[in-house]
Amino acid sequence: MADDPMPTRWSFQDFKLSYDIKFGRKKATKEEDNAGVGRVESNGTLSNSAPHGPELSIYEQFRNQDRGQQNGALPSGNDEKPQKSPLPPFESAEMRTLAESLSRDIIHGSPDVKWETIKGLENAKRLLKEAVVMPIKYPKYFTGLLSPWKGILLFGPPGTGKTMLAKAVATECNTTFFNISASSIVSKWRGDSEKLVKVLFELARYHAPSTIFLDEIDAIISQRGEARSEHEASRRLKTELLIQMDGLTRTDELVFVLAATNLPWELDAAMLRRLEKRILVPLPEPEARRAMFEGLLPSSSDEAILPYDLLVESTEGFSGSDIRLLCKEAAMQPLRRLMAYLEQKEDIVPDDELPTVGPIMHGDIEVALKNTRPSAHLHAHRYDKFNSDYGSQILQ
Ligand SMILES: Nc1ncnc2c1ncn2[C@@H]1O[C@H](COP(=O)(O)OP(=O)(O)OP(=O)(O)O)[C@@H](O)[C@H]1O
Ligand SMILES: [Mg+2]
Repeated sequence: MADDPMPTRWSFQDFKLSYDIKFGRKKATKEEDNAGVGRVESNGTLSNSAPHGPELSIYEQFRNQDRGQQNGALPSGNDEKPQKSPLPPFESAEMRTLAESLSRDIIHGSPDVKWETIKGLENAKRLLKEAVVMPIKYPKYFTGLLSPWKGILLFGPPGTGKTMLAKAVATECNTTFFNISASSIVSKWRGDSEKLVKVLFELARYHAPSTIFLDEIDAIISQRGEARSEHEASRRLKTELLIQMDGLTRTDELVFVLAATNLPWELDAAMLRRLEKRILVPLPEPEARRAMFEGLLPSSSDEAILPYDLLVESTEGFSGSDIRLLCKEAAMQPLRRLMAYLEQKEDIVPDDELPTVGPIMHGDIEVALKNTRPSAHLHAHRYDKFNSDYGSQILQ
């Protein structure tokens, strides 16, 4: 079935061998070989009988490869379990090479953002959990008409935590996570883009349950055709993406497409239809802003309690990233005072004699408030309008 790989290319067997050597795994027996390959039908599609419980997901395998054995995050006892090979067998060497590059470039280890790290956005978190976490935990309920949402769109002003939410999904939901930014598909793989999309979905199905995260999706799927001169290759890429996503809704495999954008109105209508669940990620509410301030600027002592009320009141319309900037600005003030003091000294002060940075004062907060402007509030009403036209809400 598989044609002979070119001598410079790694074949599926080479990959497996290198893993085994790296981890000193002696179990590269025929039995395991058969288990890996036998689950795949001769036409390259996956048979549904494949159990995916005990195997490591692909990012875990790659993480292991990078970090060697001392990975604390690994569930104990997994070493003894038979491994799924990192790549499904592809018909052509070209596809295999693309899959190898995809695995190297795009699949990352789990990015350590917990649900609690994200302040506020309770609605968005709840919808995401309902859409991704529950169907994986309790697949029994999500069949037929209740089959899980396969396409989810996070939209909202810039810097409000869309990428963070996706990372939380990667951390908290035990799925293989494909982190694809639009620029990486479009620029690096211009000619190969649509093949790459095909391989990506094939990999995702092979490692199901998986999440394909398409960040800044407006960059690849803005409205097709029209007068704007559109590159032929990018139209083929979009079409392939639409076809692949259509395929997802028709199967039971747990492959989710999670997309994020801050220009939802630029999306192609066909893509919007496939992203069935559309979740607004709005500017932070006062309580969320307070939680962010308390997290970023903890009060150091009882006397120097920072004016959180003032901060919350004065930051209406700030996004999460504006708030981060503001806190940074405030925290810079004591450091600036220290720098001014150090500059007066003629000699360089050695490391162990450096004075500690002082606390943030009330005045520092006021200076920071004066120096920081919200960046994303002007279009807030457009997102609200889009949300009421197309968005998903939880009604209770
Ligand atoms: N709800 C939040 N809780 C905590 N921090 C937040 C929150 N929202 C934003 N931030 C801060 O803002 C930064 C940017 O967030 P993120 O990258 O998720 O924004 P985004 O919505 O993806 O923006 P863009 O649309 O520009 O890609 C984060 O690194 C974080 O520091
Ligand atoms: Mg983002």
